[in-house]
Amino acid sequence: MTKQDYWNATRYDTQHAFVSHYGKDILSLLQPQQGETIVDVGCGTGDLAHELSKQDVHVIGIDASPNMIATAKEKYPHIPFYVQSATQLTGFSNVDAVFSNATLHWVKEPLTALQSMYAILKSGGRFVAEFGGAHNVETITHAIIDEIRHAGYRFDDAQFPWYYPSIAEYTTLMEAAGFHVTFAEHINRPTPLQGDEGLRNWMYMFADGLFEGIEKNVKDRIIKKVEERLRDVLWQDGRWIADYKRIRVMGVK
Ligand code: BEZ
Repeated sequence: MTKQDYWNATRYDTQHAFVSHYGKDILSLLQPQQGETIVDVGCGTGDLAHELSKQDVHVIGIDASPNMIATAKEKYPHIPFYVQSATQLTGFSNVDAVFSNATLHWVKEPLTALQSMYAILKSGGRFVAEFGGAHNVETITHAIIDEIRHAGYRFDDAQFPWYYPSIAEYTTLMEAAGFHVTFAEHINRPTPLQGDEGLRNWMYMFADGLFEGIEKNVKDRIIKKVEERLRDVLWQDGRWIADYKRIRVMGVK
């Protein structure tokens, strides 16, 4: 059965451009060199792949979402983009680096993904990633789950759609996959959301997985309640600030 693609590439680009904006920070850890071949795992609509291509890197973008890849191809026709999962990379080998921004918290088989990324690197190649770490957006997700239960729905931990590891946990998996871990950090990164409707838009864009099996009108009501409930906590100086916590890692094959 084909998996449904929930990603709305237009909404991603217009309301959540901060995702690739912050991704530019992590390019300094990657230190791309002219002429290198770099695979961007979870490239979304291709903005960071485009940044890399401007630095004369042979970049290849992969993403599990056909919607995202279709938009990436339209925006940047000179870059090769493919629909692939991080856990099953095929068709590449001996690449200089694998880079991933804001993606690996969606991958609930982290060791398989690490093994798959390790396999396509050349010896000495680097793996550089940033994604949601332990306690990421916890204020928001706790409030949503609480309101779901309050509305009379069951919510089991197994339904939680994200993987938010500590650096101890993730670097242990990196080593199990064969990497020599050269860098790891876990940081608070309070993240401003765009506009008065920023929190609501974030929930509609990213939190769909929490609402599986819940009717649209109930979902709308829960989102409204969460917004009211978090106004005192996350509305600061005239804007919504999400409680992002990131891990950044680098490993060498
Ligand atoms: C994140 O980038 O940390 C993130 C984005 C969407 C949903 C959950 C986490």
